[in-house]
Order: sequence, then structure tokens, then C-alpha cells
Amino acid sequence: MIELRNFVHNIRPYKPGKPIEEVIRELGIKEEIIKLASNENPLGPSPKAVQAIMKKIDNTNLYPDDNCFYLKKKMEEKFGQPPENIIVGSGSVELIELTFKAYVNPGDEIIMSEPSFIMYKIACQIFGGKRIAIPLKDFRHDIETMSRSINHKTKIVIVDNPINPTGTIVKKDVFERFIKQLPENVLLVVDEAYREYIEDENYPNTLEYIAKRKNIVILHTFSKIYGLAGLRIGYGFSNPEIIAALMKVRLPFNVNLIAQIAATAALDDTEYVEKSFKNNEIGKKYLYQELDRLKLKYTPTYGNFILVHFNNEAKQVFERAQKRGLILRTVREYSLPNALRITIGTPSQNKKLIEVLKSIL
Ligand SMILES: Cc1ncc(COP(=O)(O)O)c(C=O)c1O
Repeated sequence: MIELRNFVHNIRPYKPGKPIEEVIRELGIKEEIIKLASNENPLGPSPKAVQAIMKKIDNTNLYPDDNCFYLKKKMEEKFGQPPENIIVGSGSVELIELTFKAYVNPGDEIIMSEPSFIMYKIACQIFGGKRIAIPLKDFRHDIETMSRSINHKTKIVIVDNPINPTGTIVKKDVFERFIKQLPENVLLVVDEAYREYIEDENYPNTLEYIAKRKNIVILHTFSKIYGLAGLRIGYGFSNPEIIAALMKVRLPFNVNLIAQIAATAALDDTEYVEKSFKNNEIGKKYLYQELDRLKLKYTPTYGNFILVHFNNEAKQVFERAQKRGLILRTVREYSLPNALRITIGTPSQNKKLIEVLKSIL
């Protein structure tokens, strides 16, 4: 047998929400299957992105632009950050990986919440970072304890804002206090995958720190409100030195041609983004009201998903919902065995979700 590198033994692979096709195969279900497991946009992809893809589909014999020139130009217009402050990746997960690849030596300490997005833990295992897991406080990041845990071995602090899987945020005042105390040799990664779902004056505007601080990376994605999860494209902002370091350790052509074209068009699709935002707000209100009626506890969310708490193991609810054609997400691997993470769907999907929960409970 060929011997693996030691760290590979310890990796528990990322478990994505079940694809619809897999549930059809496993259960032989004929009725429509609804997936509310992976925080995708239930309205489908941005129509402008789809149109743009169609126009360029015949160019897929060519390699993509390795530097995402037009996409970065569009981002410069939209976010006021020059191209040298921007990196694009095959999903924001690739940018998490590149950050570790460029900066983490074995034994470096990486501070994160427990639970938080599971890929941070996996990246620690791959790159030999020592994970310092700080328990959430009332389903929120305990920023004070994270800050106190920084020492001379700390290399990165990762904050998903909002947190996957609880949906809570770190507010501006807390963030400001935290960043003021952050040593210059510690890199702060702020993962804002769901930021477009938030219209709250207390949500920090992290982009303003790019010019002020040399130790912050901000991650965004096209997988959520832009509806392009299937194309795998995410992006990050930082100062030119950090961006250059991340660019060095990526593979060439890491962002495919179709994804670049679609993302460039999607950034202009304000109508679709607004529609998606509204759908999420309406769905959130409806689900809060119906979950209250069912006397189910939930954590109020800033994202496009809700963490719903049950009295005991949620696995049964998950399995019974799946038999009814509804794919939800268990969060046992996030140390929350009694909860399910449920994506906010379209009005009819949300209605079906409540019907199914009613019948199960
Ligand atoms: C906090 C957080 N970051 C990143 C991602 C992954 O995003 P992407 O599809 O851009 O890799 C997710 C996906 O669920 C997430 O919840």
C-alpha cells in the first residue's frame, strides 16, 4: 500500500448538501425535490449572467484570461478597489486555501470560532496550522476571547461574518475595537459570503480597512445572491502585497472562462440582486412567523439560511423531510446535533417546508 502523508489521515472531508440527483437515485422519489441545504439562490442564476454565457459559449476552446482583467475592471467600478487589490478564485473556498498556502507554516496558530464554516478547519489540517477553536457565545463570535487568544504564534484569525451555520454577525463597534488591537503580524480574514443579504447600518464596512491596514483579507462570493454557485467563482480584497502573494500560489487559469463572463454580467444585474434580497426578506419573515407558530426555536439570521433548533437529535427530522422530497442540512459536524440549517427558499418552497415540518412534528 502506498503510504499517505500523515495529515491526510486526519481530514474529515467536506460534506456538501446532498445534490437533488443523489436523493432521486437513493430514494426513487418522483415528486419535485426541493433543496434547501446549501444556501444557494432559489431564484436561479442571474438572467444577465445566463445571457452573457450564451454569447461566449463558443469560445470555450480558448483558455480563460488568467488575470480576470474585465471582471476586475468591473469590480473596480463597483467597489472602488483597484485591480491590484483584487483576487478572483474558483469559489471563495479557493481563496481560503490560497491564504493558508501562502501564509501558514506547520504549527502556526489559526484562531476561529467553533462552529464556523467547516473549510477553515480542513485548511488547518491540510497546511498543518494549529486550530485554536473559540466556542460561540449565544451563537455569536466571541470576539473578545478571540482577541485575547492572540499570541506570538498566531498567524491568522478568521471571522465569517455572518457565521455559517448560525447566521449571526459581528457588529461594527465590536469589529472596530477588535481590529484596533490586532497586531500587525496577524492576518485577519473576514469571510463575507452573505454580505449582500445584509442592509444594516451596524454591519461593518470592511472595505474601508484595505487602505488603512496591511493585514486584512476580505472574501466575497458569486455563489449566494448572484446565483452562480455552480460556476465556482469568488473574490477577495486586500493590499497589493498580500494579493501578489496569493496570486503566486494559485494554479494558472484558476477561474474558468464561463465563470468570468457570468460574474462580470452578474455584477450589473442589480434588478436580480434586489429581487433576490426581497425574496430573502419576505421568506425570512414568513418562516419566523411559522416557526413561532410551530413553537420551534431558531437563531435570527443575517444570511439566506436559518438555524432551526429541535428538542433532540435533528437527524430524524432531516431523514423524514428527505423522504418527502425536501433536502435540509444537518449540522452535526458543526457540533449542533439538535439543529438543522435551512436555506430560505421561494415562497412556495418555504410553504412546503412548513407543511413538511408540521407533518413531521
Ligand atoms: C461562510 C462561507 N464562506 C464561503 C462559502 C463558500 O463559498 P464559495 O461557493 O464561494 O466557495 C460558504 C458556502 O456555503 C460559506 O458559508
